[in-house]
Amino acid sequence: MGTQESNEETSGTGAGGTGRRALLGAAVLGAGGAVLGMAGTARADGARHGGGGNLPKPTIIGHRGASGYRPEHTFGSYQLALDLGADIVEAGDLVPTKDGHLVCRHEPEIGGTTDVADHPEFAGRKKTKLLDGVSTTGWFTEDFTLAELKTLRAVERIPANRPHNTLYDGRWEIPTFEEVLRWQDEQTRKRGKQVWIYPELKHPTYFRKQGLPLEERVAKLLRKYRKDRRTSPVILQSFEPTSVQRLHRLVDNPLVVLLSSANSRPWDFVETGDPRTVADLVKPAGLREIASYARGIGPTLDLVIPRDAQGNLTRPTTLVSDAHKVGLILHPYTMRNENPFLPADFRKGTDADAYGDVFGAYKAYFATGIDGVFTDQPDTGLLAREDFNG
Ligand code: G3P
Ligand code: CA
Repeated sequence: MGTQESNEETSGTGAGGTGRRALLGAAVLGAGGAVLGMAGTARADGARHGGGGNLPKPTIIGHRGASGYRPEHTFGSYQLALDLGADIVEAGDLVPTKDGHLVCRHEPEIGGTTDVADHPEFAGRKKTKLLDGVSTTGWFTEDFTLAELKTLRAVERIPANRPHNTLYDGRWEIPTFEEVLRWQDEQTRKRGKQVWIYPELKHPTYFRKQGLPLEERVAKLLRKYRKDRRTSPVILQSFEPTSVQRLHRLVDNPLVVLLSSANSRPWDFVETGDPRTVADLVKPAGLREIASYARGIGPTLDLVIPRDAQGNLTRPTTLVSDAHKVGLILHPYTMRNENPFLPADFRKGTDADAYGDVFGAYKAYFATGIDGVFTDQPDTGLLAREDFNG
């Protein structure tokens, strides 16, 4: 199995939901010092991987904006994340258009997060493709020009878990990465405080094979806006280590390697015949290698504290201390307030849209020493940090 999946999302509280719209980041779709909130750990090459700003720790990263409250990857979601106080906004997950623009969608397939199905003029664009080894049916950004995509509007991905968010269906268009870079500067000026963003390159090998490489496009835009530097307020992330290595050669921004489930293989490894799995990458040798080109890792929360067969939290692994030993920070993903996304022992009742004991879960995860966390509800994360820091 390849990666790029969030693999923890369902619409119900059972062990595994099946509705495609319920998948958040699904398979069908889908280094150190005080900067970035890593206190107390030094690394020799921090200057090379650097990045300015003393972000609070644990750093609260607005996942796809404030996607617990607004349809993901919209300016409504990004704006709310800042209003709620997120330290960084994941704006956005990046995929390309047919004419080479970068847009903010979690995956190339846009049937689950836009109203494309309601556009008869695009009915003929519906296709079945193999996306990182997974047969996927729908509409794909790489088959649309930017002008065409701009006629669509975003909708809530998981209405069963977030019925209130459907209020905003149809309100916002798909942002481009260039619009995000300008928005970042505008918001920084308006708020009198540096706004940080944390874009992710999605499916880089898949797109490179189609003649739409992501890394060079990202680097070109970062250079255009003078945000390609070690101290720039832009952290870049990808599930494909070779993509992060390519970025390392192109720009000086802080870089993060995302890590899916332990038994999965990054898709670039599958394509190049590298036999290693995530379980290999989280061993000391794997982490040392990552630390040679990246600033941190973004593991699933389950790699930090595994769950048992019933879905309850068990004991933390040594990942946090192993990563810190080689100077890597950890920003695990993804904290969400709703029952189905929480460990079983932190759920309250069985309603799919009800909140569980998310503060209890935060306490357990923060106690491991993680440096930050991606969350769909940044306000909840900030309160949890207040609790934790006292
Ligand atoms: O980027 C951190 C987290 O967003 C990775 O998961 O699938 O939501 O992009 P995903
Ligand atoms: Ca992401």
